[in-house]
Amino acid sequence: MYQPVIAGTGVFTPGEIITNKELVMSYNAYADLWNARHKAEIETGDMARKEHSSEAFIVKASGIEQRHVVDKTGVLDPEVMHPLLRERSDDEPSLMAEMAIDACTQALKQADRSAADVDAVIVAASNHERAYPAIAIEVQDLLGIKGFGFDMNVACSSATFGIHVAADMIRAGSVRAALVVNPEICSGHLEWRDRDCHFIFGDVCTAALVMRKEDVRAPHFEILSTRCLTQFSNNIRNNNGFLRRCRPDGMKDRRDMQFMQNGRKVFKEVLPIVSKHMLSHLDDEGISPDRLRRMWLHQANKAMNDFIGRKVLGREPTPGEQPNILQDYANTSSAGSIIAFSKFSDDLEPGDLGIICSFGAGYSVGSVILRREHE
Ligand code: COA
Repeated sequence: MYQPVIAGTGVFTPGEIITNKELVMSYNAYADLWNARHKAEIETGDMARKEHSSEAFIVKASGIEQRHVVDKTGVLDPEVMHPLLRERSDDEPSLMAEMAIDACTQALKQADRSAADVDAVIVAASNHERAYPAIAIEVQDLLGIKGFGFDMNVACSSATFGIHVAADMIRAGSVRAALVVNPEICSGHLEWRDRDCHFIFGDVCTAALVMRKEDVRAPHFEILSTRCLTQFSNNIRNNNGFLRRCRPDGMKDRRDMQFMQNGRKVFKEVLPIVSKHMLSHLDDEGISPDRLRRMWLHQANKAMNDFIGRKVLGREPTPGEQPNILQDYANTSSAGSIIAFSKFSDDLEPGDLGIICSFGAGYSVGSVILRREHE
């Protein structure tokens, strides 16, 4: 059996930033417009007035200060309230593939490897730009990788589940190396017109090169163990899909065609599932939590991460033990824990242990236990 490692990672960060201030200004302008247009229905009580959003609430409830997006003009236009993306011809790279190429190139460079060393591409993300052909096959083609590619979706746990699959393929010997890529264009599925969640998401793409330890050329992380868990819940849901035009109301702009969540319930229900999952995964591997040098957690909510850190370590985690990036990126779905890992792992010493853990819609939880190695 081959030992799988993460040999390199990459993060593609879109250049455009929306601060909380800009976001709240545009949301409030949209709410004012909406209230003016529905004045009569509001007065009769047939419709509820849209209240203003607040920067103070956003930071307090989530820890998010800004987000990167692929297009801010559409999102911030009170008459539009979603990204505006140019139409691409079938002969051009898709947007997800373009983001993926950047992140994959960084991951290969960090590992000092090239496309010729890779046998598989997994594009693991919450949403895919089209039904088929798979984005992964396009990425494979653009990078000049032989072998195969496939797409997968486990919402916020797509990246860790992708690493789990790649690590199993390495162990089994079916591939020498696999790129697990997470292009998350969350601005496309976020309902920017909903005050309860308009601040939640941002866009990014991460990539991880998973390969055989015997082939590494640079400092890397041994994948000691991976574990996945799912438990059905409707508390985070998006009903958009290929049967949309077959419904009685056709292509109607319906709220449930975008991301929806019952945030309070998610918060309450997911916390115990995640902390139990992490503790039992570590325990089964004979690793006591006090041996962990770092936890790279899913990036949805700061209070949630603080709670999980306390539960797993049995004490208050220091900021260095549990780095957050959500203040700069917001929730980037499956990519969040990989951004944290990519940006906060170089300083680990040989033998240091860490755990990546994602959680989200499904519900789904994925954990990856890692050990730093220099050779
Ligand atoms: N600005 C100002 N006030 C707002 C607001 C906004 N943008 N959004 C909501 N509020 C108000 C609500 O109307 C509510 O008012 P009320 O008490 O008068 O009814 C109050 O603030 C609290 O709202 P609530 O939705 O209960 O806030 P919260 O503390 O639960 O925080 C989340 C909301 C979404 C940040 C939080 O629930 C969360 O992070 N949950 C987990 C989400 C998660 O991990 N999801 C996974 C997605 S991949």
